[in-house]
Amino acid sequence: MNTHIPATHPPGPAARLWGLNHLQTMKADYLGFVTRLQNQHPDIAQTRVLKERITHVFHPEWVREVLVDQSDALIRWERATEIFSVSMGQSVLVTEGAQWQRQRRMLQPGLSPKRVAGYAALMTSAAQDALADLARRPAEQSVEMDALMTTMTLDVILRALFGSHQVTDARPIANAIQTMSHAGFSEMFKPFSWPLWMPLPSVRKVHHAKQTLDRVIQQHIQAQQSTASDDGHDLLTMLRLARDPENPEQSLSAQELHDQTIVMFQAGHETTATAMTWWSGLIARHPEVAERIHAEVDAVLQGNSPTPATLQQLPWLQASLKEAMRLYPPAAILFTRRACKDVTVGPWTLPKGQLIAFTPYVIQRDPRWFESPDAFKPERFLPGAPEIPRGAWMPFGTGPRVCIGQHFAMLEMGLIAAMLMQRFRLEWPEGERWPKGDLAVTLRPAQPIRVKLNLKAPITHPRGV
Ligand code: HEM
Repeated sequence: MNTHIPATHPPGPAARLWGLNHLQTMKADYLGFVTRLQNQHPDIAQTRVLKERITHVFHPEWVREVLVDQSDALIRWERATEIFSVSMGQSVLVTEGAQWQRQRRMLQPGLSPKRVAGYAALMTSAAQDALADLARRPAEQSVEMDALMTTMTLDVILRALFGSHQVTDARPIANAIQTMSHAGFSEMFKPFSWPLWMPLPSVRKVHHAKQTLDRVIQQHIQAQQSTASDDGHDLLTMLRLARDPENPEQSLSAQELHDQTIVMFQAGHETTATAMTWWSGLIARHPEVAERIHAEVDAVLQGNSPTPATLQQLPWLQASLKEAMRLYPPAAILFTRRACKDVTVGPWTLPKGQLIAFTPYVIQRDPRWFESPDAFKPERFLPGAPEIPRGAWMPFGTGPRVCIGQHFAMLEMGLIAAMLMQRFRLEWPEGERWPKGDLAVTLRPAQPIRVKLNLKAPITHPRGV
């Protein structure tokens, strides 16, 4: 416990009953709680919950001062790491120190923009299959975008990871991930978790989900290993061939290979599906933005499949994806950090042992950096628009622990979005209400987003896939 409280600790609301009042509000509506906190203390605020002091950093410069400049003074909050390691083992998402550095060095080259461009053909073929099925549906029937995007991104990550598509029914996997996400988030408000062998219904559910995930991943690793050659253009081959640049003899152990595969799979598809679901709803609600995208997609692609190069010529499409992730960042809160040395934030010194929290959902809706912050205005991200301060838009985090899959995600989302807009006009069904967000690790819509997909003139010369 922290006994030394510096005279310079940041302002914040009073904690009644050792902060149990905050704990209750946080549990009921975490994002509402942090939004109110930021309204009262725009740059930085401190709360107290039981024995912990938690400092929320909101000012973009200070966010970077902590996450970029003092990253070696931080570890991830132990409770979150403990919960995530149930499904993700000792993977790059949860490890710290030398072990994390080694894993990050080994994985990063395989997810560079250049290497990721090599997965584009896999991504477009997955999207093409899913969209061809959709084109056969009656036009008047609205489509549940969450289900569509989950299927599509699951297919993409499976093909990208394992090279060929070997899963016939992806629903059990999607359900297992959802179960673990929901359970994981509520566990964060409890001081400990029951071990997985406990015969409690909630624990059994998580155990079953974990077994499903482990089994599918193991089956795929084995199947891929028996057929693959070392020149395969898939993520698993990349993981198998990954060597530590500082120790070229070293490859990932069998357990590390399993854990990294799970993390790529889990971190890599739920976030992307969530971003695409919100994006599709926003496009359907904003026909004026949709028109801009249709115009550029039709003019640039002319019926061809998008590629990493042609995506660069679609500024409205790219800007709309960024703006959707500003309003609804899939990772609405970053992992809370623990200071393992004193940390300086602007004029404050946070002593070793404190927790520090970062909430992109709140930072990205600050009217000081985003005029009409609740409005969907992709033009903010167009080339030539006024500059957005660094650290004010960070759906992928920032600093050395920034999302390792950000180039993969941006490419995947761009390709899927372009192919969808090539084929369909998105229409918001009359009378349908806009859903609130439901935070369970990722920020998903609380009710399904349904959109009508009206077929455009058929694509006559599809080439490239
Ligand atoms: C729209 C899609 C995505 C979003 C919004 C997203 C967001 C994030 C964020 C915010 C972090 C940092 C968390 C923190 O600092 O506390 C992160 C880390 C991570 N992401 Fe992503 N992510 C996405 C897609 C992906 C994909 C496609 C992959 C893999 C192929 C991936 C793998 C990872 C991994 C392994 C980490 C941990 C990195 C480390 O700690 O060194 N993510 N992601």
